[in-house]
Amino acid sequence: MTMRLVTSELVESREILPGQWIQSFHAPALANGSRAGQFVHVRTGDYSGFVLRRPFSINTTDVATGVITIHFRTIGRGTEWFTRLRPGDTIDMLGPLGRPFEVDPRSRHLLLIAGGLGMAGVRHLADEAIRDGRQVTLLFGASGARDVYPSSLLPDEVEYVIATDDGSVGRRGFVTDLVPEYEAWADQAFACGPAGMLAALARQAAGRRQRMGVAKLGRKRGGGRTDALGSPAARRKAFLQVSMEQNMGCAVGACLGCVVMSVTGTPQRVCREGPVFASDEINWEAGW
Ligand SMILES: Cc1cc2nc3c(=O)[nH]c(=O)nc-3n(C[C@H](O)[C@H](O)[C@H](O)COP(=O)(O)OP(=O)(O)OC[C@H]3O[C@@H](n4cnc5c(N)ncnc54)[C@H](O)[C@@H]3O)c2cc1C
Ligand code: FES
Repeated sequence: MTMRLVTSELVESREILPGQWIQSFHAPALANGSRAGQFVHVRTGDYSGFVLRRPFSINTTDVATGVITIHFRTIGRGTEWFTRLRPGDTIDMLGPLGRPFEVDPRSRHLLLIAGGLGMAGVRHLADEAIRDGRQVTLLFGASGARDVYPSSLLPDEVEYVIATDDGSVGRRGFVTDLVPEYEAWADQAFACGPAGMLAALARQAAGRRQRMGVAKLGRKRGGGRTDALGSPAARRKAFLQVSMEQNMGCAVGACLGCVVMSVTGTPQRVCREGPVFASDEINWEAGW
């Protein structure tokens, strides 16, 4: 679906964790036309007359009711402003924006990896994958119990594994520590979270071929053909896709405010070429 400007009505607003909210908006055009990994650019006020748009992942969609949700943490004036909206209030959303996750039709086992608010980046993919009959394991990392995403908000079919830095829930340690236990099982992995976490996962993914002898589906998929870096076909073949965050200006590819560097030295706009990339497309050392 092409991007459009959609007037969306707030249906429900819930604080699911301290300072973390899920808001539901009636926006049938977005519910129908969005794919997992895409985002909306939402116009917010801040009660000082200053109006800006802020980007949020499309957290879930429900085609039957035309409702989409966003999940956010109150971090500044724009996100605070959202929490004061009441059901019936309308806001405008530009979307769906960005390129989605690419799931290979042959992949049966998907590993989703989320750090903190990164849950919002992979949440929709869990629904899509379950709907398509795939098995999903979701590894989630947070600093402690107060930030652990409730399992009740996930589909029952998802295997949910938690790591916390302080060990207050689940395994003690980083979510990246859990990955080695699942990498042989998974056909593909999809991650969203802090840049440091994504860089660590990219390093793990790069070493996977050697550890496992051969990438599990790589032999079948490779077939001698090389797909252009950054193409949907190349991303579908990658073991790991990451959804990245950069501060955004326009979110439509014009201002170049959101670039990260590719391995070939070509600037990549997170809002247009991303936010989803294959982990091996990105030059993680470039510092952007
Ligand atoms: C593609 C994309 C998808 C996103 N999806 C989500 C989502 O699903 N849920 C969610 O909670 N957030 C998401 N974000 C981040 C979100 O857009 C920002 O948190 C939001 O714009 C902050 O607005 P604010 O006015 O409340 O904060 P501001 O007043 O703009 O900023 C407050 C403070 O937070 C810092 N800050 C602002 N943005 C970020 C950021 N992206 N990362 C780290 N620090 C930041 C600022 O530097 C400042 O110190 C996404 C960002 C991108 C680019
Ligand atoms: S935010 Fe303007 S080019 Fe990406």
